[in-house]
Amino acid sequence: MCGIVGYIGKKEAYPILIEGLSALEYRGYDSAGIAMVDSTGLTIYKDKGKVDRLKEITRSIEKEKGAIGIAHTRWATHGAPSKVNSHPHTDDKERIALVHNGIIENYSILKDRLKEEGIEFRSETDTEVLAQLVGKYYENDLAAAVRRALADVEGTFGIAVVAKDQPEVIVAARRGSPLVVGVGDNELLLASDASAIVRHTKTVIYLKDNNLIELHRDGIYHTTTLENVQITPELHQLEYDAESLAKGGFEHFMLKEIFEQPQTIKNALRGRLLIAEGTARLDGLNIVHQELRSIERIIFVACGTSWHAALVGEYMIEDIAGIPVEVEYASEFRYRNPIIGPNTLVFVISQSGETADTLAALREASHKGATVLGICNAVGSSIARETHGGVYLHAGPEIGVASTKAFTSQLTVLSLLTLLLGRMRRISHSDGMTIANALQAIPSQVEQILKQNVKVKEIARIYHHHSNFLYLGRSYNFPVALEGALKLKEISYVHAEGYPAAEMKHGPIALIDKEMPSVVLAIKDSIYDKVISNIQEVKARGGSVIAIANEGDCEIEKHARHVIYIPKTIPILSPLLSVIPLQLLAYHIAAMRGCEIDQPRNLAKSVTVE
Ligand code: G6P
Repeated sequence: MCGIVGYIGKKEAYPILIEGLSALEYRGYDSAGIAMVDSTGLTIYKDKGKVDRLKEITRSIEKEKGAIGIAHTRWATHGAPSKVNSHPHTDDKERIALVHNGIIENYSILKDRLKEEGIEFRSETDTEVLAQLVGKYYENDLAAAVRRALADVEGTFGIAVVAKDQPEVIVAARRGSPLVVGVGDNELLLASDASAIVRHTKTVIYLKDNNLIELHRDGIYHTTTLENVQITPELHQLEYDAESLAKGGFEHFMLKEIFEQPQTIKNALRGRLLIAEGTARLDGLNIVHQELRSIERIIFVACGTSWHAALVGEYMIEDIAGIPVEVEYASEFRYRNPIIGPNTLVFVISQSGETADTLAALREASHKGATVLGICNAVGSSIARETHGGVYLHAGPEIGVASTKAFTSQLTVLSLLTLLLGRMRRISHSDGMTIANALQAIPSQVEQILKQNVKVKEIARIYHHHSNFLYLGRSYNFPVALEGALKLKEISYVHAEGYPAAEMKHGPIALIDKEMPSVVLAIKDSIYDKVISNIQEVKARGGSVIAIANEGDCEIEKHARHVIYIPKTIPILSPLLSVIPLQLLAYHIAAMRGCEIDQPRNLAKSVTVE
């Protein structure tokens, strides 16, 4: 979603802010802006478009030194992308400038009230209301004005504010939208995502909800609650470095991340797979085995790709551990009245750890007294901090908006969880060892699939002009069909539907003709023959079939027009392999259609608003 960067120190603020914005562009990017303060006053530049547009309009100021500044990339919520709606926003006297992530829910009431007081508005945004409020309360104490303004607003915010007559301070505060402060050598940085500041420092403070921080030029910071109670924040060390944020010779982050999967899966397994015992250890769960053994139900809550991983988790855990599992969309769960019994364990799954709906669902489950555990990638993220325990993916930063390596890492962690729970309840040592050995082999099997990149590209060339695709799979590969279709939609803007293969005849079959290819996951498992029948149904209606099948399957070529072969593994792990060609297929189709792969239109990597 929107990105925030701030700098206060002895260096030139401008290049640091621009570089930070570029690092955040993957989060949201319909407009960008910057506000800088020095002894001569407040300067604001902003416009619709990407950070490159901001660079163009600020070319003349590049040599300006010594200012402190705040900057923003916007993903529109209230008001269309335009110069006037871009951040930073100011009060009507232009004494303060503010950037904001989140949504001010009562902005309309506040706006009317401020208008009645004679305050003039320029934009259609909810953020301007907050800027006007801070301006209204500002009497030389910026933190006090921010506190008073925030007491009036309902909704979510991560904000950074500067004042024209105070070139010595940035004030930041959060509720629901992440903010991280980088503590450098006599300098402080601020960002909505650590990737914007990791080039400068790895020591960070994750600002907590309802906290406010004042950042001073000499590297001194002062943290309080919004009610002005002093607190001492914890310092953390970032686990990754600036190199992991580079494309490393790949044309796009998405392709780099697809190719990283053999390594990221290994990272998720490291130290957790106990081959000889045929089980797994997940110490971060912070749950004693006795409690794990007494679980009667598991609820997975997630959004997007993470929701697809959860669906695979449901199949795995019910199958191997015999525990009933439900999978919920976080956005639905948070507003329902979910029933959470005493022995129900809730898992929230989120790559970013910041998805607003997932965070709200976590809080709802916690209010109902559930033990809530997280499966997150972003270390120190809001979800990781608010859950009672959990498992990190250790996949490194995922920059491409379309999630790839996080998905396979989520599946890996869910497989480990399945193994652990399964061994406690149902499966024997030898069955546990079979799963553990199969898991161990996955990274090298993924590597083998990636060697077929050129073949997948050839298939993409044949089909990249098509406007509709159907993705079909059954059992463990039904969620993979959903994920394959989502990948294609997200980055190539091609309509794609994922369906359980047999359900096709209850609707989508009506769409099939020679213009609508079907991608079918025809993995050799107990229902392989049924999937072959589904392929026949597609063929009979003139549809072409691209099949994902197992090496050694001599039958499949008789039925499908194209076949991408993947190594054989046990059924519960097959999604870890079958999704790889689908990621590549979506990537190549999008590339051939000339789409902006890492920053698809209208999407954001981390959806921090409802
Ligand atoms: C956005 C991203 C998706 C992601 C979803 C959930 O829609 O574009 O790639 O799957 O959010 O994100 P999370 O960080 O909670 O996994």
